[in-house]
Amino acid sequence: MALLAEYLDSVKTVVDATLDSLIPTEADEPRNLHSAIRWSVFAGGKRVRPAIVIGVGEVLGAARADLLATSAAIEMVHTYSLIHDDLPSMDNDDLRRGKATCHRQFGEATAILAGDVLQTLAFKAIAEDVRLTAECRIWIISQLATASGTPAGMASGQQLDLNAEGKGTSIEELERIHRHKTGALISAAASAGAAIAAASGSDVEAVDRYAAKLGLLFQITDDLLDITQETKELGKTAGKDANALKATYPAHFGVAKTRELAAMIRDEAIAAISPLGTNTDILEALADFIVERTN
Ligand code: IPE
Ligand code: IPE
Ligand code: MG
Ligand code: MG
Ligand code: MG
Repeated sequence: MALLAEYLDSVKTVVDATLDSLIPTEADEPRNLHSAIRWSVFAGGKRVRPAIVIGVGEVLGAARADLLATSAAIEMVHTYSLIHDDLPSMDNDDLRRGKATCHRQFGEATAILAGDVLQTLAFKAIAEDVRLTAECRIWIISQLATASGTPAGMASGQQLDLNAEGKGTSIEELERIHRHKTGALISAAASAGAAIAAASGSDVEAVDRYAAKLGLLFQITDDLLDITQETKELGKTAGKDANALKATYPAHFGVAKTRELAAMIRDEAIAAISPLGTNTDILEALADFIVERTN
């Protein structure tokens, strides 16, 4: 964990600087819109998706500088998804990243627009990243758009999540929700890292299998934390899933069995990257962090 804490810190520093350079300042008009965007982006997220882009990319030989714009772009899509996830019409949350949610602070219309801006700025950042070849940029844009907006992507997963509220879901349906709403973007982060590193076909396959496990694991842990953790530590209101009758792993299996499943999926994630034949310590540490995190 010490290794990863240091790694996450170093990722956060460079990714935050990149985000700062890509996002309009609070002095840009309309100021309430740009303040709202910065409120949410710089509220202190863990930056796990950027760490996946950079971790996968570096393990496969990419230079960190080539991974930054894409990392920041994926964090922008993620933050947009959180702002919209918290809206009254969705999860209706008051607290995010330890602060008032965007709509609580700036109003609902501005929060919707802040999400819209972050989503489009993300694609602009990749399109304009002169460090990457045009071919690589187009490939990443296509992957990220697929992971966000197609029937296989995050927004569809969010709809599936809302559709499942209050209904009993099968394990297959539950896994489908989690893979879409959370797994798709995590997979896009890993494949972007591999693409920037110009990884071979077999390495890309190994990374894809790893990321698919990681994405599912991430949402299972998120579901567990909602039950087992305090609001103060979480930085978002604890216990909301049960109140909203959300389809979650603990609701389906109970906490103990969900923990066992998480440990199994963590092992599968690590097994998936064993064929890479390079030092994968950081990717293993990322999987451990996702299981052991406290928020
Ligand atoms: C929360 O994501 C939403 C899910 C996809 C479960 P994170 O736990 O990565 O949130 P931040 O970015 O650290 O705030
Ligand atoms: C959110 O899942 C997934 C996305 C934002 C795409 P949750 O609704 O469980 O996330 P939290 O718990 O509010 O962070
Ligand atoms: Mg939600
Ligand atoms: Mg939510
Ligand atoms: Mg949650």
